[in-house]
Amino acid sequence: MAVAARVRHFVSIADLSSGELVALLDRGAAMKAGTAGRDAPLRGMALAQIFEKPSLRTRLSFDVAMAELGGHSSYLSPQEVGLGRRESVADVARVASRLVDLVVLRTYAHETIEEFARYASVPVINGLSDLSHPCQGLADIFTIRERKGLDGTITAYVGDGNNVLHSLMLCVAKTGATLRIATPEGYGPQERFLTLARAVEKETGARIELTDDPVAAVTGADVVYTDVWTSMGQEQEYERRRRAFQGYQVNAKLVAHAKPDAIVMHDMPAHRGEEITDEVLDGPRSVVLDQAENKMHMLKAVLCWLVGGTASPRPPLR
Ligand code: CP
Repeated sequence: MAVAARVRHFVSIADLSSGELVALLDRGAAMKAGTAGRDAPLRGMALAQIFEKPSLRTRLSFDVAMAELGGHSSYLSPQEVGLGRRESVADVARVASRLVDLVVLRTYAHETIEEFARYASVPVINGLSDLSHPCQGLADIFTIRERKGLDGTITAYVGDGNNVLHSLMLCVAKTGATLRIATPEGYGPQERFLTLARAVEKETGARIELTDDPVAAVTGADVVYTDVWTSMGQEQEYERRRRAFQGYQVNAKLVAHAKPDAIVMHDMPAHRGEEITDEVLDGPRSVVLDQAENKMHMLKAVLCWLVGGTASPRPPLR
């Protein structure tokens, strides 16, 4: 049976209007300040985290967020669920919808999350897929806004046009800031995400600029962002990617082209000595630990938004 139309999912940043994104950022800020979320708004609610890939930050952030909002979280590893192998994606979605109020999925294929969402009757959150990482995008844009504001802020992304960049790009486009993307030829963001970003650019006044020159991207930037060159699931491409990304390392020499008060971001885990040096990752400009913490505050905002406040979307089981 197809999902009921009233259920809202968070599979991509494209699921949010610009207004909703700003409202989520405001709610995340209130969560962080402790002026929201203290009255156990998710009391009695349960979250299932069904992950095909490893996670530290995302999983732990959801665990802590649910606990602090008065709810409960269960983690299900690939060995336990066997999504699409032991059991069909549709059956897992139908069963999970009877037992929990929300589901987070971390998958290899983005299509798995879309299929799950079609059969789920509770909100589904994308906890990372090969195409997008919207929870990370929220943490990133929150951190940029917190540290630099968004008006006229230039973020330079140097590295692979991956899932993290796709979500960051949509967040920047929807909030009217500027993103300069420096990638080697053949490793840029996917056209479908560029098309989505370009469509919003006109509405918000954002600017998304593409180059293959890391120095051009970073010069005068307020934020320098990088991510791994080889993502989970691409391990067989490691040597080819290492060669392709030579010259794209975020090191002290590259960061020296940014504004004197520029910050450095990385969603982590980092491959130290590859896309970023220890000196920069551990240096005074680095805000990577803020980024990691901010994911938890933004996930609280997402969880409350998806369940629509304080009411449970399903009758209590007990
Ligand atoms: N950045 C990120 O998603 O971290 P984890 O893989 O540890 O969740």
